[in-house]
Amino acid sequence: MNILIIGSGGREHAFAWKIAQSKNCEKLFVTPGNAGTAAIATNVDIKVDDFQKIKELVLAENIKLVVVGPEDPLVKGIVDFFKADKQLKKVKIIGPESRGAQLEGSKDFSKAFMQKYGVPTAFSETFTKETLAKGLAYLDQQPGPYVLKADGLAAGKGVIITESREEAKASLTEMLTAGKFGSAGDKVLIEQFLKGIELSVFVLSDGKNYVILPEAKDYKRIGEGDTGLNTGGMGAVSPVPFADADFIKKVEDLVVKPTLAGLQAEGIHYVGFIFIGLMNDNGNPMVIEYNARMGDPETEVVLPRIKTDMVRLLTAAADGKLDKIKLNINPKTAVTTMVVAGGYPEEYKKGDLMEIPEAEKDSVVFHAGTQLTQAGVVTNGGRVIALTGMARTMAAAIRKSQKMARKVKFKKKYFRKDIGQDLMNYFKK
Ligand code: AMP
Ligand code: GLY
Repeated sequence: MNILIIGSGGREHAFAWKIAQSKNCEKLFVTPGNAGTAAIATNVDIKVDDFQKIKELVLAENIKLVVVGPEDPLVKGIVDFFKADKQLKKVKIIGPESRGAQLEGSKDFSKAFMQKYGVPTAFSETFTKETLAKGLAYLDQQPGPYVLKADGLAAGKGVIITESREEAKASLTEMLTAGKFGSAGDKVLIEQFLKGIELSVFVLSDGKNYVILPEAKDYKRIGEGDTGLNTGGMGAVSPVPFADADFIKKVEDLVVKPTLAGLQAEGIHYVGFIFIGLMNDNGNPMVIEYNARMGDPETEVVLPRIKTDMVRLLTAAADGKLDKIKLNINPKTAVTTMVVAGGYPEEYKKGDLMEIPEAEKDSVVFHAGTQLTQAGVVTNGGRVIALTGMARTMAAAIRKSQKMARKVKFKKKYFRKDIGQDLMNYFKK
């Protein structure tokens, strides 16, 4: 079967790496891809939301399965586009239709959805430009810390958390009146602050059946000890020690089942990944957010632990046959460290020549923002390359990942040296 992956990050390289191992994969394409995918698949320079060009490629190359990596094309309706097109509607496509992608595309929609279907989540109120005064008065009555969320997609930057009421008020005003996040900030949610440790649970749904994939913990802040600005993710670990069978059972009963039941009740046929961002609130899962796709860099630790053939798994999802699949998971711990360009998540440079280490045993090098040029592989994004190490203990997996991160060379590279350290105490040797 010929297969297309849409996207260009570490997540998409991880999908390409896993799919390329399947005997069911003939030709593999990635649009637009990166230097890592170029080595194992054919990159085609098409933007992720250029549906017409994607259609032409799918037809020209007889592609039968499409995996949509990022949220943007999903929210813009790529799946609806495929379903409405006579020539494309038989092509299997992994991702929700745009209404399903609203779970990620609109925080106001997802909050109302959680409330309607009884999914545990932080209390919140939504305000607009017209109700700004009420929003400011609301903040006056709340204790800190304050959590403000822009309603729409804001590339992971639409959340402001502050201890200071004055700062919260200034941010609310700026978001609603100065268009700080463009139209994504037309509505702003003020949410109750949740304490606890975060983790992400991934579900693959076929519209009625589902499988729960290995969970992961992401490291979102740029600085060690979880300090500084939010990023797309600086590293990830799977499995997460506190997410034992009891906790995952709670997530399944309290979150996964009502979420899928809710989607069905809304008439949303959801084929694809649901990424559930959770806070472990004293042993109780509270949903922080849904995403309509896999996480990045979580995919770089989740997929290496899945032994099941990825094409079989994705085909079963597209065909409504996930009830026939029993996932086979590697019990080893996977840790990934993201090496980023100096300055990220603010201004950074692209186009610097790189040296990349060979993967050792039980390690994988996943390219993110890289590009193959005549001169060699150069940096092409803020998050440049993710180094995944696997081992029987978390300590050994961390060492492998960090050792490879040290061997990556380019000007002004940076990576966090503390990925996984906070979880180490959970492991008894
Ligand atoms: P989101 O874009 O919704 O994932 O939010 C970004 C980050 O903000 C999350 O990963 C959390 O670390 C944090 N966050 C979001 N909502 C809350 C909340 N209600 N309480 C505490 N932290 C939160
Ligand atoms: N790592 C977080 C995300 O993919 O949204």
